[in-house]
Amino acid sequence: MTSISLTVNGDSVDAAVEPRVHLADFLRERLLLTGTHIGCEHGVCGACTLLVDGSPTRSCITFAAACDGSDVRTVEGLDDDPVTARLRDAFKAEHALQCGYCTPGMLVTARDIVHRLPDADDERVRLELSGNLCRCTGYLGIVRAIRRVLDEGAIPAGSRDNAPLPVWPELPRADIVRADAAVVAAVAVPAAAPTTARDGGASTLRQSLLLNVPLERVWSAVKDPALIASCVPGLTVVRVDGDEIEGRMDVALGPIKARFTGRATVNYVASAYAGSITGEGRDGTTGTRLGAAARFDLAAPSPAETRIDLAIDYTLRGPLAQFSRGSIVQGFAEEIAASAARSLEARLLGQSGEPLAASTQTSSSLGIGAILARLVWQRLRKLLTPG
Ligand code: FES
Ligand code: FES
Repeated sequence: MTSISLTVNGDSVDAAVEPRVHLADFLRERLLLTGTHIGCEHGVCGACTLLVDGSPTRSCITFAAACDGSDVRTVEGLDDDPVTARLRDAFKAEHALQCGYCTPGMLVTARDIVHRLPDADDERVRLELSGNLCRCTGYLGIVRAIRRVLDEGAIPAGSRDNAPLPVWPELPRADIVRADAAVVAAVAVPAAAPTTARDGGASTLRQSLLLNVPLERVWSAVKDPALIASCVPGLTVVRVDGDEIEGRMDVALGPIKARFTGRATVNYVASAYAGSITGEGRDGTTGTRLGAAARFDLAAPSPAETRIDLAIDYTLRGPLAQFSRGSIVQGFAEEIAASAARSLEARLLGQSGEPLAASTQTSSSLGIGAILARLVWQRLRKLLTPG
């Protein structure tokens, strides 16, 4: 058992908890604060959202023991909060709830939006709400309710829990992922060293890849967008016009199929063996929009090897944004990049039997289900491997 002391809704609480007990369970079962709802218990649906030290937090994936010394505020503790009172009225007026199961988490997130983004437009409100799922309302009423409070203007002075947002730490560099299936499986998804972070709605991914190919050959390949695209699962280059590239990305997740079409601009800095790609795309079916800016740097750790360092900032807005979180995207990105690196390496070494150059290139659809299955298998294997 672990002894903890924390403040819950303004009251001091001392307790002994099992280290594995989640904050949501601790609040509901020990303190009988059942206003915090539990839905998915995987940090996806947002039903359990509450405030820890003023920041919205998923209490289903937060250990109670980790909140020692923290200030926790649940929806019950927002009874007298002026902004929440305005939101409650607005939710009623705009029919922003039906069964009400998502509502405590929605209110906490809505309150955070009102405090943090007083000038948010509807699109930004929807983006901020993408971590809170509602199975009843269709979101229109919820967005209208938040809009109503935002339009009312100034936040009352002295409202509680308006703590500053946390400062995200400096991103660590990812481990080098070799373009080799066995090594990729061994080092993928380092649990203790996340390589994603959010900043103003954008997320950043960093990754390093090692190819057993000399630098000059890799650099020549990097300058051929069609060749690179043909190595990336699901990516098709439709047209290349100077630095402008038009393409599409096919993604399949079970019955969900998405086709992002869009454009990108690529810049090369030959003297530094580096460059950047910026672009945006849209899935015509769901309306989900993806914006991304990637930087790449090549280096030669040895005459026969090339390391590619990637840093990708991306924003996903719309229905598919729910898949844009932390380790899921990190795992996908590592798998996709490692797969592309293996394919590129095989082509450059003449082992794939594929041609090196073409005006447009098509690769097979990106099956996220298969990638997800591989990630789960890798994690299970890691867990089950002794030592
Ligand atoms: Fe915590 Fe779904 S119950 S996010
Ligand atoms: Fe029922 Fe949102 S009102 S889940």
